[in-house]
Amino acid sequence: MADHAPSVAMEAVLKPSCDLPEDMPKIKGYDFNQGVDLHAVLKSYLTTGFQASSLGLAIQEINHMIEKRLEPVEAEGNECNESGESPRNSGCTIFLGYTSNLISSGVRESIRYLAEHKMVDVIVTTAGGIEEDLIKCLAHTYLGDFSLPGKELRLRGINRIGNLLVPNDNYCKFEDWLMPILDQMLLEQNTEGTRWTPSKMIHRLGKEINNTESVYYWAYKNNIPVFSPALTDGSLGDMIYFHSYKNPGLVLDIVEDIRKLNSQAVFAKKTGMIILGGGLVKHHIANANLMRNGADYSVYVNTGQEFDGSDSGARPDEAISWGKIRTDAKPVKVYADASLVFPLIVAETFALHADKLTAGKKTD
Ligand SMILES: NC(=O)c1ccc[n+]([C@@H]2O[C@H](COP(=O)([O-])OP(=O)(O)OC[C@H]3O[C@@H](n4cnc5c(N)ncnc54)[C@H](O)[C@@H]3O)[C@@H](O)[C@H]2O)c1
Repeated sequence: MADHAPSVAMEAVLKPSCDLPEDMPKIKGYDFNQGVDLHAVLKSYLTTGFQASSLGLAIQEINHMIEKRLEPVEAEGNECNESGESPRNSGCTIFLGYTSNLISSGVRESIRYLAEHKMVDVIVTTAGGIEEDLIKCLAHTYLGDFSLPGKELRLRGINRIGNLLVPNDNYCKFEDWLMPILDQMLLEQNTEGTRWTPSKMIHRLGKEINNTESVYYWAYKNNIPVFSPALTDGSLGDMIYFHSYKNPGLVLDIVEDIRKLNSQAVFAKKTGMIILGGGLVKHHIANANLMRNGADYSVYVNTGQEFDGSDSGARPDEAISWGKIRTDAKPVKVYADASLVFPLIVAETFALHADKLTAGKKTD
């Protein structure tokens, strides 16, 4: 019997490595012997690996946006757009996008915090992302279960969004609240020549709801434009449809809004994109940033995969190929349910730097 393992096996198993760079991060997680320190736990994510490291990188990327945002901007040298709109007085214009379901969930409260303290500059969401916020000011959304049977819920007039439950009465209350506002909007269109756009309508709804729990109340107060080009794809669309029979003629112009949104990117000094979920919200923000040859900072949080060629699942590198993210940027994608990670991201970024971000700003 040979007393040495075959050399081919020895060489295969014990193949020598080349040296890795000294400054390469070494994998190390949190040691609970240090006690329960959630801030330190989140800091350790960067060197934990897998999606924990992506979350750590996303936090770093957003903190870079914040640093840039806090840099003083010289008044001269700021280009002005042709309509005379003044550019953002900020070193980095932050675009925040989120899918409707996140407003149905408790992520709404993290988003409201950002709007309340003027920590983001531009918001993009889908129809449900507008109406669910307003409806929550009129009636509650409840925690149910993913497995509740649809037929039984339908018989009881209860709607399900994942494991959330929304009584159908909530939408009846929404109709009662919204119809007189639509009447008034139509009157202003006909008598004052107001040309309504989705963003102007959302601004108005934020004013009318007059409730500090609402994202869009704060967006109205702080003059944060909210874009939602498919505003009719939800309960708002149902109400606008009913209203078109009762009191026809209301017009919503999406052309004025696309110009307003793109201008926010074109005339910004730097831009950052924080996009939770995919679909319209992801592409609408990225496409606006194409108009400036790409965003400077980007964070995606979504569960989409790229194998089906969907825009929802496309990694940031695909957006680089289109000029929607700059070629020298260091974008981050976190593969996760945003309801798990977004409050943690806010805790380690905007909320951590709240003093600096809100210094000199007054929100009444
Ligand atoms: N509450 C609601 O969800 C609701 C209510 C009314 C109307 N709608 C309408 O349904 C349509 C589709 O909704 P949408 O475009 O907002 O998004 P969507 O629900 O279709 O989601 C788009 C993609 O985003 C990603 N995503 C969704 N939730 C996520 C999460 N929690 N974490 C990480 N990634 C996530 C997934 O990849 C998903 O395929 C819209 O027109 C909207 O107005 C939705």
